[in-house]
Formats: sequence, C-alpha cells, structure tokens
Amino acid sequence: MKRIFSGIQPTGSVTLGNYIGAMKQFIDLQHEYDCFFCIVDQHAITVPQDRLELRKNIRSLAALYLAIGIDPEKATIFIQSEVPAHAQAGWIMQCNSYIGELERMTQFKDKSAGKDGVSSGLLTYPPLMAADILLYQTDLVPVGEDQKQHLELTRDLAERFNKKYNDIFKIPDIRLPKYGARVMSLQEPAKKMSKSDPNLKSFITLLDDPKQIEKKIKSAVTDSEGIVKYDKDQKPGVSNLLSIFSIFSGKSIEELESKYEGKGYGDFKADLAQVVLEEITPIQERYYSILESSELDEILDRGAERANIEANKMVRKMMNAVGLGRKR
Ligand code: TYM
Repeated sequence: MKRIFSGIQPTGSVTLGNYIGAMKQFIDLQHEYDCFFCIVDQHAITVPQDRLELRKNIRSLAALYLAIGIDPEKATIFIQSEVPAHAQAGWIMQCNSYIGELERMTQFKDKSAGKDGVSSGLLTYPPLMAADILLYQTDLVPVGEDQKQHLELTRDLAERFNKKYNDIFKIPDIRLPKYGARVMSLQEPAKKMSKSDPNLKSFITLLDDPKQIEKKIKSAVTDSEGIVKYDKDQKPGVSNLLSIFSIFSGKSIEELESKYEGKGYGDFKADLAQVVLEEITPIQERYYSILESSELDEILDRGAERANIEANKMVRKMMNAVGLGRKR
C-alpha cells in the first residue's frame, strides 16, 4: 500500500484554509493509502509559544483529526516530538542543506521580515519537514499550495542525499486539492487565510461559534458590483467565497453563479454560512465529546508506537549512510 505523510502545526485553531487545503484531503485519502498524520509540535516552537497553550493546542488538534473523520484504525495519528527520530533525521538533513537555499524560502522571508530575534529554527525548519516526510518512505504529501516550495526542497534534499551517500529515500510527490489549494483571507482576499492574521475577521476556524461564523461570512469583503461571478483577478473576494461554497456544497462554480444570478450578495452569503455550518457543527459536537474521552491518549500512544517503529528503521539507514555511530 502506498504511503502518505502530512502534518499540521498545533498553533491556535485550525482554519478553514487548513481544513480545505489539507484535512479534507486526509479524509478522502485514508481509505486508499497507509497514512501518517502528524501533529508537528517541533515546528510550532520555531516561533515563541506559550507552553500551556501549546499543550492544549496539541490535544485539540489530535481531537480535531478524529472529529473530522480520520479513522484511527486506518491512519496513524501521532505527535512529532514523541518520535525522536524526527529530530535525529532533521539534524542530518540540516547538515545537508545550504543556508542560501533555506534563506530563499518565501515562508522564511515572510515570517522573518522586519523581526528581531528570529530563531535559527525558523530558517532550518524545511530540512526538519523533509525529515518528517522522508522517514516514512512517503509516496504522496497532501498539503495546501503554500507548502509547495517546501515540498520541492524536500525532493531536492532527498535526491542530493541519495546521490551523495546511498540511495535510500523515496522521492515524494505533492498532492494539492483540486479546488481550495489556497483559501484567501475574508478581509484582504489578495492574502492567504492564516491563523496568525491579527484581524480575527479574516479567518474562520473549525471551532468558531456558529454565530461568529455567520458574522464573519457576512462581513467578508466583496465588491460593489453585486454580481456573483468567478473572476480571480477582478473579483478576488467573491471568487474566494464561491470556491468555499463550491467545496462545501459539492455544487460547481457555474451552478452557483446561475443560482445567484440577479440576487446580490446577501442571499449568497447567508446560504454560504448555512452550508459551512452544516458541515462544521457536527465536527464541533464530535470534537467536544472526543476531548473528554480517554480514547484520545490511547490513540496517540498507539500512533507514536507505530511511528517510532517505522521512523527508527529509516533513521538507522540514514546513520549508516552518513557514517554516524557504530554500524548496526
Ligand atoms: P500549517 O500548519 O501552516 O498548515 C497545515 C496545512 O494547511 C494548509 N493551509 C492552507 N491550505 C489552503 N489555503 C490556506 N489558506 C491554507 N493555510 C494553510 C497548508 O498548506 C498545510 O497543508 N510546514 C507545514 C507543516 C508540516 C508538514 C510536514 C506538512 C511539517 N512537516 C510534512 C506536510 C508534510 C505547515 O506549517 O503547515
């Protein structure tokens, strides 16, 4: 069975961007692939975190993985820091990446621009991400578009390692969702939707209260034309809402355009809020009941156990390839 690996950072709540770009793919793919879905807490500490918040967010993300419909009997769900091979392999990959190529990563440039006290971990984050993926002989990595550059670097690093030492890594492919690979901000539709946006109206999270979700959709920036039509360049706000609507309703963009012809944005937004809530409300109900159950820890224990077995095999191969430790 082919392998999938993907991860999400446990920083704040999961946004509609994370859900559409990554998590919805996870739900679909778990039936056809051997999946490893990781809570990448070591990536989270590349920027300052409150320790209690981080702990809470790790558990919350684990519960959300289950609440959206990932079946722990099918997929392996685990916490990155509970599998030490990630840090070990990350170091080896870091020693085989160049500062120049890491400085060229747009996410590093965006996150470090104009800031003092940027951690070196923020720069060396992509080799850790490469290690995450390569440890599992991954075939496919389902992510949103903003991770494309990191995936390309992962492939380069794997090829470089294979050539320099020993041909041990499988070269993974990226999988973007057909629609919604880049969900945009509700307030500034030229920017991607992000949980670190200081404007809370710009993103919806899976745990927002239904009233808040309605409000955020109602106040989403559109334009003064009053025509529901997909045109990414001229009508970025409306186009973003149309994409979200299409994904949640299963209706095509064309169907939606003709349904709302001559109706303006009011009805359109109200119906959009409705379809989003229909999907999210049951997720929230499951989430709160899972958080209170003891099954969450059992699932994470089992996940860590399986991930440790797989990752340790690969890190041993990497150590042998590089010449670290004693041959085993
Ligand atoms: P993170 O935690 O920022 O985001 C998790 C996933 O959500 C996707 N995403 C989006 N998709 C569409 N529209 C958006 N506005 C949007 N915002 C976020 C991201 O593309 C991602 O798929 N570096 C990764 C985590 C990671 C990882 C890995 C992923 C670490 N190791 C190995 C895959 C494989 C990150 O920061 O994602």
